[in-house]
Amino acid sequence: MSEIKYSWQDNTSRLDQKLQNNSNSDCYPFHMPGHKRRTIDFSNLYSLDITEIEGFDNLHHPQGILKEAQQRAADLYDAKETFYLVNGSTAGILSAISAALPRLGTLLMSRNSHRSAYHAACLRGLETVYLLPAATEFGISGSVSPAHVAKALEDLPQIAAVFITSPTYDGVTSDIRTIAEIVHAYDLPLIVDEAHGAHFAFSDEFPESALSCGADLVIQSLHKTLPSFTQTALLHVNSDRIDRDILKHFLSVYQTSSPSYLLMMSMDQCIRFMGKKGTDFMEKYIQQLKSFYQQAKSLKHLKVFDKTSVSEEICFDHDMSKILISVGDSEMTGQKLYHKLLNSYHLQMEMCAGHYTTALTSIMDTPEGFQRLSRALKEIDEKISVSKNGSKTDAKVIYGKRPGRSKLLTSIDIYQNPKPQMPIALAIEQPSERLSLKASTGHISQEFVYLYPPGIPLIAPGEILTGKIIRVIDQCQNLCLSVEGLSDESNQSIKVVKL
Ligand SMILES: Cc1ncc(COP(=O)(O)O)c(C=O)c1O
Repeated sequence: MSEIKYSWQDNTSRLDQKLQNNSNSDCYPFHMPGHKRRTIDFSNLYSLDITEIEGFDNLHHPQGILKEAQQRAADLYDAKETFYLVNGSTAGILSAISAALPRLGTLLMSRNSHRSAYHAACLRGLETVYLLPAATEFGISGSVSPAHVAKALEDLPQIAAVFITSPTYDGVTSDIRTIAEIVHAYDLPLIVDEAHGAHFAFSDEFPESALSCGADLVIQSLHKTLPSFTQTALLHVNSDRIDRDILKHFLSVYQTSSPSYLLMMSMDQCIRFMGKKGTDFMEKYIQQLKSFYQQAKSLKHLKVFDKTSVSEEICFDHDMSKILISVGDSEMTGQKLYHKLLNSYHLQMEMCAGHYTTALTSIMDTPEGFQRLSRALKEIDEKISVSKNGSKTDAKVIYGKRPGRSKLLTSIDIYQNPKPQMPIALAIEQPSERLSLKASTGHISQEFVYLYPPGIPLIAPGEILTGKIIRVIDQCQNLCLSVEGLSDESNQSIKVVKL
C-alpha cells in the first residue's frame, strides 16, 4: 500500500469546508461567476444531479427537453441555432475553429486571444497569422483594426477563417460589423469569442453583440457575466457559412459525454430569467454602474478606465461592466491595490495586472457591493503617496508605450510582437532540448508561456524567444504575476526546438 501522505482527520484542506467558509464570509465577489453566489438556494444539489436517464434527453442528440432549452436560448439571442456548452467557452472555441477550417489551414486571429484558440490551432495543425490589437494609453490592449483584417485577407489568399476576441478580458470590443463585412466579401467565416459579452444583448448601454453585427459563430460564457453556474456557455450559429454537421461532430469531440444536468438546469434558469426580467434588472444595474463611474471621477490618484478618454480607432467600444482601476500616479502596483482591497476591505477582485486591478460586475451585484467598492477606493485614494517620478505626471507618461519609462509593466510591454517560425503543432513535434530561460534567447520555443489570468500567450510554440520576451517573463515573475504554461513549474527553464 502506498504511504498515506495526509491525515483523514485534518479538516483544514477540505474543499467543501473552504467553499462554505468563503460563502459565509463578508468577502464581496467582484469576480466570476456572474451569479455572485446569489441565485439558487438548494439544500442538496446532489438530489438533482443525474445523467442522461429516460425522459431527460441527450445533449449530443437533443430531441426533447434539451432541444427546447437550446431553442429558447437561440430565440433569446436571435440566433439560427444555439448549442449548450458544459465545458465553458473553451469547448465552443475549440469546436468553432475546428469546424471552420480544414486541417492544416490558415487562421487569421487576434493575437490577444484566449489560449483555447491557440490550442485549437495546435490540435488541427493550423498556420496562424496574427492581428495585433492597438495600444491604449491606459496600458491595455485596444481594438483590432478592420483595415488590418482587410490587408491580411488581401495579402494572404490562403486564409480560411477569421477569429476575433471581442470583448477582451478588459472589456474592449472591436468593430465587428465592419470586420464581418470585410470577411464576408471573401466569403469566409468570422468567429467571435464573445466569452465576456453574454450580457451585451440586454441593453444598448453595452457594446453591440457580435451576433447582431453579423459574425457567423459567436461563443459566450454565461457564467462570466450572467447568473449561471461556472463552466456554462453558449455557441451561437448565425449563418450557414460553417457546416452544422461538422460543428456538431467537433462539439461531441470536445464536450464530455456525461454533461451535468445541474449545469444545464442553471443555463435554462439563466435564459428564462434574462428573457423575463433581464431588461428590468439591466436598467437598475446600469444606474448603479453609472453612479459608480460618476463617483470615481473624484479620485485624485487612482484612475478608473473610461472609454471617452480614448479614441474610437484605438478602443472601438468598452464594456463598462468591467471596472478597471489603475494605480494612477501612486506608488502602488496593481497587486498592491488588489491585496489592499482584499485584505483591508474584503473585496475580492477578478484579477490584477502590473498597473491595475479589475472588478467584474453583473446584474446580480448589490447597491451595497458598489458602495463598498466606491468607499474603499475613496479611502485608499486619500491615503495614497505619490510616485517620486511624477507627483504631477499625467497618465500618458506613466502608461507610455515604451518599456523603461515607467516602473510599471503594462499589457503593452508584456505582449510583444510575435516572431513565428513554424506552426504551433509542428514545433511541438520537433526534437527538443531544455535550456535555462536566460540561455534560450534566439531559440524557437516549444512551449506556451501565459499570464493567468487572462490566459493570453506571451509566446507560443514555434516562435522565437527574443531577449525582450525573456526579460518580460522575468519581470512578470518578479511582480508575482502568475506565469504559467512551462513544464518546469519553477519557471527557470524552457523547452526549445533542437535544431
Ligand atoms: C477572452 C476569453 N475567451 C475564452 C475564455 C474561456 O472561457 P471559459 O472559462 O468559459 O472556458 C476566457 C476565459 O477566461 C476568456 O477570457
